Amino acid sequence: MTRKLILDCDPGQDDAISLFMAFAARDRFDILGVIAVAGNTSLEKTHRNARILCELTQHTDIRVYAGCDAPLHHPLATAEEVHGREGLDGIEIYTPQMPLQTQHGVDFLIDTLLGSEDETITIVPTGPLTNLATALTRQPKIAPKIKEIVLMGGAYREGGNITPSAEFNFYVDPHAAQIVLECERPITVFGLDVTHQVLSSPDILARIKSINNKVAQAAHQILQDYSRFEIDRYGIDGGPLHDPCTMAYLLQEDLFEFKQCNLRVEADSPLARGHCVLDFWNTKPLPKNVKWAHHVNHEKFFDLLITQLEKYS
Ligand code: BDR
Ligand code: CA
Repeated sequence: MTRKLILDCDPGQDDAISLFMAFAARDRFDILGVIAVAGNTSLEKTHRNARILCELTQHTDIRVYAGCDAPLHHPLATAEEVHGREGLDGIEIYTPQMPLQTQHGVDFLIDTLLGSEDETITIVPTGPLTNLATALTRQPKIAPKIKEIVLMGGAYREGGNITPSAEFNFYVDPHAAQIVLECERPITVFGLDVTHQVLSSPDILARIKSINNKVAQAAHQILQDYSRFEIDRYGIDGGPLHDPCTMAYLLQEDLFEFKQCNLRVEADSPLARGHCVLDFWNTKPLPKNVKWAHHVNHEKFFDLLITQLEKYS
Protein backbone atom coordinates (compact mmCIF):
# COMPACT_ATOMS: atom_id res chain seq x y z
CA MET A 1 0.00 0.00 0.00
CA THR A 2 1.28 3.48 -0.80
CA ARG A 3 1.77 6.00 1.96
CA LYS A 4 -0.06 9.32 1.58
CA LEU A 5 2.34 12.25 1.79
CA ILE A 6 2.10 16.02 1.74
CA LEU A 7 5.47 17.64 1.14
CA ASP A 8 5.91 21.10 2.67
CA CYS A 9 9.14 22.69 1.53
CA ASP A 10 11.20 25.77 0.60
CA PRO A 11 13.38 24.66 -2.33
CA GLY A 12 16.22 25.17 -1.63
CA GLN A 13 19.06 22.96 -2.83
CA ASP A 14 18.73 20.17 -0.27
CA ASP A 15 14.93 20.35 -0.55
CA ALA A 16 15.44 19.70 -4.28
CA ILE A 17 17.37 16.48 -3.59
CA SER A 18 14.65 15.40 -1.19
CA LEU A 19 12.00 15.99 -3.88
CA PHE A 20 14.07 13.98 -6.39
CA MET A 21 14.07 11.07 -3.93
CA ALA A 22 10.34 11.37 -3.30
CA PHE A 23 9.36 11.61 -6.96
CA ALA A 24 11.45 8.52 -7.74
CA ALA A 25 9.40 6.55 -5.23
CA ARG A 26 5.84 7.08 -6.40
CA ASP A 27 5.30 3.34 -6.23
CA ARG A 28 5.71 3.77 -2.45
CA PHE A 29 4.24 7.25 -1.96
CA ASP A 30 0.95 8.80 -2.94
CA ILE A 31 2.06 12.45 -3.14
CA LEU A 32 -1.11 14.44 -2.50
CA GLY A 33 0.60 17.76 -3.04
CA VAL A 34 3.69 19.88 -2.58
CA ILE A 35 3.25 23.08 -0.59
CA ALA A 36 5.85 25.81 -0.79
CA VAL A 37 6.67 28.11 2.11
CA ALA A 38 8.88 31.18 2.44
CA GLY A 39 12.20 30.15 3.94
CA ASN A 40 15.41 29.71 2.02
CA THR A 41 14.06 32.41 -0.28
CA SER A 42 10.75 34.21 -0.91
CA LEU A 43 7.52 32.30 -1.46
CA GLU A 44 7.38 33.42 -5.10
CA LYS A 45 10.72 31.75 -5.68
CA THR A 46 10.10 28.59 -3.63
CA HIS A 47 6.85 27.74 -5.44
CA ARG A 48 8.47 28.53 -8.78
CA ASN A 49 11.46 26.33 -7.88
CA ALA A 50 9.17 23.49 -6.78
CA ARG A 51 7.49 23.58 -10.19
CA ILE A 52 10.83 23.72 -12.02
CA LEU A 53 11.80 20.56 -10.13
CA CYS A 54 8.53 18.87 -11.16
CA GLU A 55 9.23 19.77 -14.78
CA LEU A 56 12.85 18.63 -14.60
CA THR A 57 11.79 15.23 -13.28
CA GLN A 58 8.70 15.06 -15.53
CA HIS A 59 6.35 14.76 -12.57
CA THR A 60 4.13 17.64 -13.67
CA ASP A 61 0.96 15.88 -12.51
CA ILE A 62 1.95 16.66 -8.91
CA ARG A 63 0.02 19.64 -7.59
CA VAL A 64 2.08 22.53 -6.23
CA TYR A 65 0.53 25.07 -3.86
CA ALA A 66 1.79 28.34 -2.42
CA GLY A 67 1.53 28.50 1.36
CA CYS A 68 2.60 31.22 3.77
CA ASP A 69 4.84 34.04 2.62
CA ALA A 70 6.17 35.00 6.05
CA PRO A 71 6.68 33.48 9.52
CA LEU A 72 3.97 33.85 12.16
CA HIS A 73 5.57 36.68 14.14
CA HIS A 74 9.14 37.33 13.04
CA PRO A 75 10.06 39.00 9.75
CA LEU A 76 11.26 36.53 7.13
CA ALA A 77 14.95 35.56 7.27
CA THR A 78 16.25 33.81 4.14
CA ALA A 79 19.36 31.84 3.16
CA GLU A 80 20.25 32.98 -0.35
CA GLU A 81 23.89 33.06 0.69
CA VAL A 82 23.68 29.26 0.88
CA HIS A 83 21.19 28.34 -1.85
CA GLY A 84 21.86 31.16 -4.34
CA ARG A 85 20.06 34.34 -5.41
CA GLU A 86 17.16 32.35 -6.87
CA GLY A 87 17.22 29.83 -4.02
CA LEU A 88 18.35 26.98 -6.24
CA ASP A 89 21.86 27.46 -7.59
CA GLY A 90 23.11 24.72 -9.91
CA ILE A 91 20.23 24.39 -12.38
CA GLU A 92 18.60 26.64 -14.94
CA ILE A 93 15.96 28.92 -13.45
CA TYR A 94 13.07 29.95 -15.69
CA THR A 95 9.34 30.59 -15.51
CA PRO A 96 7.78 27.12 -15.45
CA GLN A 97 4.85 26.21 -17.67
CA MET A 98 3.32 24.07 -14.99
CA PRO A 99 0.60 26.08 -13.24
CA LEU A 100 0.54 26.88 -9.56
CA GLN A 101 -2.67 25.64 -7.89
CA THR A 102 -5.03 28.50 -7.15
CA GLN A 103 -5.98 27.23 -3.68
CA HIS A 104 -3.81 28.52 -0.82
CA GLY A 105 -1.48 25.82 0.54
CA VAL A 106 -2.90 26.07 4.06
CA ASP A 107 -6.46 25.61 2.76
CA PHE A 108 -5.29 22.61 0.76
CA LEU A 109 -3.73 21.16 3.90
CA ILE A 110 -6.89 21.72 5.97
CA ASP A 111 -9.31 20.43 3.31
CA THR A 112 -7.20 17.36 2.54
CA LEU A 113 -6.80 16.41 6.17
CA LEU A 114 -10.44 17.05 7.05
CA GLY A 115 -11.52 14.86 4.16
CA SER A 116 -9.30 11.94 5.24
CA GLU A 117 -9.62 9.05 7.66
CA ASP A 118 -7.87 9.38 11.02
CA GLU A 119 -4.11 8.75 11.11
CA THR A 120 -3.69 8.45 7.35
CA ILE A 121 -1.66 11.44 6.16
CA THR A 122 2.08 11.92 6.65
CA ILE A 123 3.30 15.49 6.45
CA VAL A 124 6.93 16.10 5.54
CA PRO A 125 8.05 19.67 6.34
CA THR A 126 11.55 20.56 5.22
CA GLY A 127 11.31 24.32 5.67
CA PRO A 128 10.00 26.66 8.38
CA LEU A 129 6.85 25.17 9.94
CA THR A 130 4.56 28.12 9.17
CA ASN A 131 2.10 26.28 6.90
CA LEU A 132 1.41 23.38 9.24
CA ALA A 133 1.25 25.60 12.33
CA THR A 134 -1.23 27.92 10.62
CA ALA A 135 -3.39 24.98 9.58
CA LEU A 136 -3.35 23.43 13.08
CA THR A 137 -4.28 26.75 14.66
CA ARG A 138 -7.03 27.55 12.21
CA GLN A 139 -8.57 24.05 12.25
CA PRO A 140 -7.52 21.90 15.24
CA LYS A 141 -9.72 19.03 13.98
CA ILE A 142 -7.04 18.18 11.42
CA ALA A 143 -4.64 16.85 14.08
CA PRO A 144 -6.16 13.35 14.42
CA LYS A 145 -5.91 12.88 10.66
CA ILE A 146 -2.14 13.08 10.79
CA LYS A 147 -0.36 9.74 10.82
CA GLU A 148 3.09 11.23 11.36
CA ILE A 149 5.00 14.48 10.91
CA VAL A 150 8.47 13.81 9.54
CA LEU A 151 10.43 17.04 9.66
CA MET A 152 13.86 18.54 9.25
CA GLY A 153 14.72 21.10 11.90
CA GLY A 154 16.59 21.81 15.09
CA ALA A 155 19.88 20.73 16.60
CA TYR A 156 21.07 19.44 19.96
CA ARG A 157 24.71 18.36 19.97
CA GLU A 158 25.70 20.24 16.83
CA GLY A 159 24.83 23.79 17.90
CA GLY A 160 23.42 26.12 15.27
CA ASN A 161 23.97 26.84 11.60
CA ILE A 162 22.26 30.26 11.43
CA THR A 163 23.09 31.53 14.93
CA PRO A 164 25.41 29.94 17.49
CA SER A 165 22.48 28.03 18.95
CA ALA A 166 19.80 27.72 16.28
CA GLU A 167 19.17 25.68 13.18
CA PHE A 168 17.71 27.63 10.24
CA ASN A 169 14.15 26.19 9.95
CA PHE A 170 13.42 26.54 13.67
CA TYR A 171 15.10 29.96 13.77
CA VAL A 172 13.00 31.37 10.92
CA ASP A 173 9.68 30.46 12.53
CA PRO A 174 10.16 29.32 16.12
CA HIS A 175 6.53 30.10 17.05
CA ALA A 176 5.37 27.74 14.31
CA ALA A 177 7.78 25.09 15.56
CA GLN A 178 6.28 25.43 19.05
CA ILE A 179 2.75 24.90 17.74
CA VAL A 180 3.72 21.84 15.72
CA LEU A 181 5.70 20.30 18.58
CA GLU A 182 2.66 20.63 20.84
CA CYS A 183 0.17 19.04 18.45
CA GLU A 184 0.28 15.65 20.19
CA ARG A 185 0.76 13.62 17.01
CA PRO A 186 3.80 11.40 16.28
CA ILE A 187 6.68 13.64 15.22
CA THR A 188 10.00 12.38 13.87
CA VAL A 189 12.74 15.00 13.80
CA PHE A 190 15.92 15.15 11.75
CA GLY A 191 18.11 17.92 13.14
CA LEU A 192 21.69 18.90 12.47
CA ASP A 193 22.95 16.14 14.80
CA VAL A 194 22.09 13.62 12.14
CA THR A 195 22.15 15.72 8.95
CA HIS A 196 25.78 16.62 9.60
CA GLN A 197 26.57 12.91 9.32
CA VAL A 198 25.58 12.82 5.63
CA LEU A 199 27.87 15.12 3.69
CA SER A 200 28.11 15.36 -0.08
CA SER A 201 31.86 14.76 -0.07
CA PRO A 202 33.90 14.58 -3.31
CA ASP A 203 33.55 10.77 -3.59
CA ILE A 204 29.75 11.04 -3.25
CA LEU A 205 29.66 13.79 -5.88
CA ALA A 206 31.70 11.56 -8.22
CA ARG A 207 29.25 8.68 -7.73
CA ILE A 208 26.29 10.93 -8.54
CA LYS A 209 28.07 12.39 -11.56
CA SER A 210 28.58 8.93 -13.01
CA ILE A 211 24.81 8.28 -13.18
CA ASN A 212 23.72 8.81 -16.73
CA ASN A 213 20.44 10.68 -16.55
CA LYS A 214 19.26 14.29 -16.48
CA VAL A 215 18.03 14.33 -12.89
CA ALA A 216 21.23 12.85 -11.46
CA GLN A 217 23.25 15.37 -13.46
CA ALA A 218 21.11 18.17 -12.03
CA ALA A 219 21.56 16.73 -8.52
CA HIS A 220 25.30 16.74 -9.11
CA GLN A 221 25.30 20.37 -10.24
CA ILE A 222 23.16 21.44 -7.31
CA LEU A 223 25.29 19.59 -4.77
CA GLN A 224 28.55 20.81 -6.24
CA ASP A 225 27.51 24.43 -5.74
CA TYR A 226 26.00 23.69 -2.34
CA SER A 227 29.08 21.79 -1.11
CA ARG A 228 31.41 24.61 -2.09
CA PHE A 229 29.57 27.01 0.20
CA GLU A 230 29.41 24.59 3.14
CA ILE A 231 33.07 23.58 2.84
CA ASP A 232 34.19 27.24 2.78
CA ARG A 233 31.86 28.39 5.53
CA TYR A 234 31.92 25.49 7.98
CA GLY A 235 35.14 23.72 7.07
CA ILE A 236 33.34 20.40 6.66
CA ASP A 237 33.83 17.74 4.00
CA GLY A 238 30.76 18.61 1.87
CA GLY A 239 27.20 19.91 2.04
CA PRO A 240 24.94 18.31 4.68
CA LEU A 241 21.96 16.55 3.08
CA HIS A 242 19.54 17.92 5.67
CA ASP A 243 16.16 17.58 4.01
CA PRO A 244 16.80 14.25 2.22
CA CYS A 245 17.04 12.61 5.66
CA THR A 246 13.24 12.84 5.88
CA MET A 247 12.80 10.95 2.64
CA ALA A 248 15.53 8.43 3.43
CA TYR A 249 13.66 7.63 6.65
CA LEU A 250 10.35 7.17 4.85
CA LEU A 251 12.03 4.83 2.38
CA GLN A 252 14.29 2.95 4.78
CA GLU A 253 13.64 3.65 8.44
CA ASP A 254 16.38 1.36 9.74
CA LEU A 255 19.08 3.69 8.41
CA PHE A 256 18.56 5.80 11.54
CA GLU A 257 18.75 5.48 15.30
CA PHE A 258 16.28 7.39 17.43
CA LYS A 259 15.48 8.37 20.96
CA GLN A 260 12.00 9.29 22.15
CA CYS A 261 12.25 12.52 24.16
CA ASN A 262 10.84 15.94 24.92
CA LEU A 263 11.66 18.78 22.54
CA ARG A 264 10.81 22.44 23.06
CA VAL A 265 11.91 25.51 21.13
CA GLU A 266 12.81 28.98 22.36
CA ALA A 267 10.90 31.58 20.35
CA ASP A 268 11.38 35.05 21.76
CA SER A 269 14.81 35.40 23.31
CA PRO A 270 16.97 37.66 21.08
CA LEU A 271 19.99 35.58 22.07
CA ALA A 272 18.54 32.10 21.68
CA ARG A 273 15.66 32.41 19.20
CA GLY A 274 15.06 29.02 17.58
CA HIS A 275 17.19 27.17 20.12
CA CYS A 276 16.19 23.55 20.66
CA VAL A 277 15.76 22.44 24.23
CA LEU A 278 15.93 18.66 23.90
CA ASP A 279 15.66 16.50 26.99
CA PHE A 280 17.83 13.80 25.46
CA TRP A 281 18.53 12.18 28.84
CA ASN A 282 14.91 12.47 30.01
CA THR A 283 15.80 14.57 33.05
CA LYS A 284 12.22 15.83 33.53
CA PRO A 285 8.82 14.11 33.53
CA LEU A 286 7.81 15.88 30.30
CA PRO A 287 5.80 14.44 27.41
CA LYS A 288 8.09 12.59 25.00
CA ASN A 289 6.74 14.47 22.03
CA VAL A 290 9.38 13.58 19.42
CA LYS A 291 11.35 10.71 18.01
CA TRP A 292 14.76 12.36 17.72
CA ALA A 293 17.18 11.01 15.12
CA HIS A 294 20.73 10.95 16.44
CA HIS A 295 22.59 8.53 14.19
CA VAL A 296 22.51 7.53 10.53
CA ASN A 297 24.32 4.81 8.62
CA HIS A 298 25.82 7.21 6.09
CA GLU A 299 27.05 4.54 3.68
CA LYS A 300 23.61 3.00 3.35
CA PHE A 301 22.07 6.47 3.18
CA PHE A 302 24.15 7.31 0.11
CA ASP A 303 23.46 3.90 -1.46
CA LEU A 304 19.78 4.72 -1.15
CA LEU A 305 20.22 8.20 -2.63
CA ILE A 306 22.12 6.74 -5.59
CA THR A 307 19.45 4.07 -6.11
CA GLN A 308 16.74 6.74 -6.17
CA LEU A 309 18.66 8.87 -8.67
CA GLU A 310 19.33 5.83 -10.89
CA LYS A 311 15.57 5.35 -11.22
CA TYR A 312 15.46 8.34 -13.58
CA SER A 313 17.61 6.48 -16.15
C1 BDR B 1 17.64 23.67 6.71
O1 BDR B 1 17.75 25.04 6.36
C2 BDR B 1 17.62 25.20 4.97
O2 BDR B 1 18.55 26.11 4.49
C3 BDR B 1 17.77 23.83 4.37
O3 BDR B 1 16.97 23.70 3.20
C4 BDR B 1 17.30 22.91 5.46
O4 BDR B 1 15.92 22.68 5.40
C5 BDR B 1 18.94 23.25 7.36
O5 BDR B 1 19.20 24.02 8.49
CA1 CA C 1 14.63 23.25 3.41
